[in-house]
Amino acid sequence: MSVPETPATVRHIHPDLETVLYTEDEIKARVRQIARQIKAVYGNGEFTIVSLINGAVMFTADLMREIDNPVRLDCIRVTSYGAKTKSVGTPQIVADLTLDIHNRDVLIIDDILDTGKTLSLVATLARRLNPASLRSCVLLDKKARREVPFQADFVGFDIPDKFVVGYGLDFAERYRNLPCIGVLKPSLYTTPAH
Ligand code: IMP
Ligand code: MG
Repeated sequence: MSVPETPATVRHIHPDLETVLYTEDEIKARVRQIARQIKAVYGNGEFTIVSLINGAVMFTADLMREIDNPVRLDCIRVTSYGAKTKSVGTPQIVADLTLDIHNRDVLIIDDILDTGKTLSLVATLARRLNPASLRSCVLLDKKARREVPFQADFVGFDIPDKFVVGYGLDFAERYRNLPCIGVLKPSLYTTPAH
């Protein structure tokens, strides 16, 4: 059986990608649109960004620079997948908020909404701190994989059930620095059957 050839352009970006879902320019354009949507909701008011690191670093950095509101930034870290492509168990906060969000307008930012476990945990914990308002923004949404009901207020792209990397998203901490978002070749994380 012949293995489908990776198009030369994809190979040029990174040999471990099967396809490129969104190029750097497409991401940039979409980030700008999301910034406008956010602006339409918050007006000129101040709000506090809670960014889920490490995955959301690129998205947060780019999105913030498209917004001219006064913003505060805090980062939290939730337990990661490790070297796996599927979430297992219940996520936990491993580095918590340092800013006070009581009575603040809060926008949680993550790279991708998958099972929904991470964002629903973070939203539940944030809500206990009595923010004035709480919204969420994700660059990617894999709706087909939802296990816990969760809908983000701002979504960049709806994507199919494929494991993606780049623009902050990793597999075992690699590929975060790719400027595009691509589908990782499944052969890199599945062991071939014998
Ligand atoms: P959830 O809790 O299942 O919604 O997972 C959310 C987290 O899983 C995200 O913050 C990502 O770090 C990670 N994740 C989910 N899908 C992918 C993917 O396709 N590529 C890389 N990371 C992913
Ligand atoms: Mg993440």
